[in-house]
Amino acid sequence: MRRIGVLTSGGDAPGMNAAIRAVERSASRRRIEVVGYIDGYNGLVNDDRTTLTDRTVGNVIQRGGTFLGTSRCPEFREPEGRARAAENMRKARVDGLVVVGGDGSFKGALALSEEHDIPVVGIPGTIDNDVWGTEETLGFDTAVNAAMRAIDQVRDTSESTGMMFFVEVMGRSSGAIALHTAVAAGAVGVLVPESHSDIWQLAERVESSAARGKRSHIIVVAEGDEAGGAFGVAERFREVLDFPHRVVVLGHIQRGGAPTTRDRVIASQSGALAAQALADGRWNVMIGMQGMRPVEVPLAEVVEHQAPPADYGLLQLAQDLAG
Ligand code: ADP
Ligand code: F6P
Repeated sequence: MRRIGVLTSGGDAPGMNAAIRAVERSASRRRIEVVGYIDGYNGLVNDDRTTLTDRTVGNVIQRGGTFLGTSRCPEFREPEGRARAAENMRKARVDGLVVVGGDGSFKGALALSEEHDIPVVGIPGTIDNDVWGTEETLGFDTAVNAAMRAIDQVRDTSESTGMMFFVEVMGRSSGAIALHTAVAAGAVGVLVPESHSDIWQLAERVESSAARGKRSHIIVVAEGDEAGGAFGVAERFREVLDFPHRVVVLGHIQRGGAPTTRDRVIASQSGALAAQALADGRWNVMIGMQGMRPVEVPLAEVVEHQAPPADYGLLQLAQDLAG
């Protein structure tokens, strides 16, 4: 293999830059050239690319987002779009591809490989931590830390005024960010898309802890909760209990910012192994993290499975530990 490509796809996630850097540095040690495709699969379809060097991937490990850009690319969902991409890769003599993204990006990568015999390797990068075959995706740790810090600040006002706060965190179909943030920030309740939200029970808990003298009440709500995010939950809550409250939606604040140590380490391990796997002929795998180590998981298995549901044990733990 003389030249490989790397791209970032789907939602950006902190740690993507560190992964690109690791792919390039690991490949260049093996005398393999690396090109970076701009804006995910759009770059592949339109042959928009830049040659990466040890220098151009310098000073990026600490930066959030992705300097290659990312996108959602409808054209790549169609066989014609993937044929164009494959043709562009052949003309540019790009022999293999590393895709940093989520489950959807991996479906696209596998289709490209199966239809056009192009070796691919995936690195799971999404703040949602909802990819099968890995215990952690790039960006998750940073997102949870950002949400936790924001709630720590909100708690000052909650404690000072006695007001309750509904804080919405990201996660359209995954409650992973919400559950981890709730435990880390000492929330009294957490509502996630994967389970039915019992507003009555929540109201009872808030009422009884307020009666015991608790002043700060934080309820973490995943954006995809059945009640319609934090505003929806607050509205339903009002029908059950009259309690002074405010709603805070954290939104994309959680997706940006400098990656944590954990995300930089995972990204570096995954990027290095991805380039090595491509070079050694171990193709169509995803580099997952299992037991704190990078492992190779067949991509076909990854896209066949739904990610396991988020850890409900954390839901119970948050409630048990709330004062
Ligand atoms: P993520 O990778 O984070 O799950 P998306 O689901 O938005 O994000 O997928 C990112 C891109 O991957 C899409 O814009 C599309 O180009 C490509 N993609 C997603 N699903 C498929 C699919 N089933 N077949 C081919 N390409 C896909
Ligand atoms: O997949 C990552 C994520 O941040 C989800 O948590 C969120 O639901 C979605 O992307 C938001 O996507 P967009 O930025 O396209 O609105």
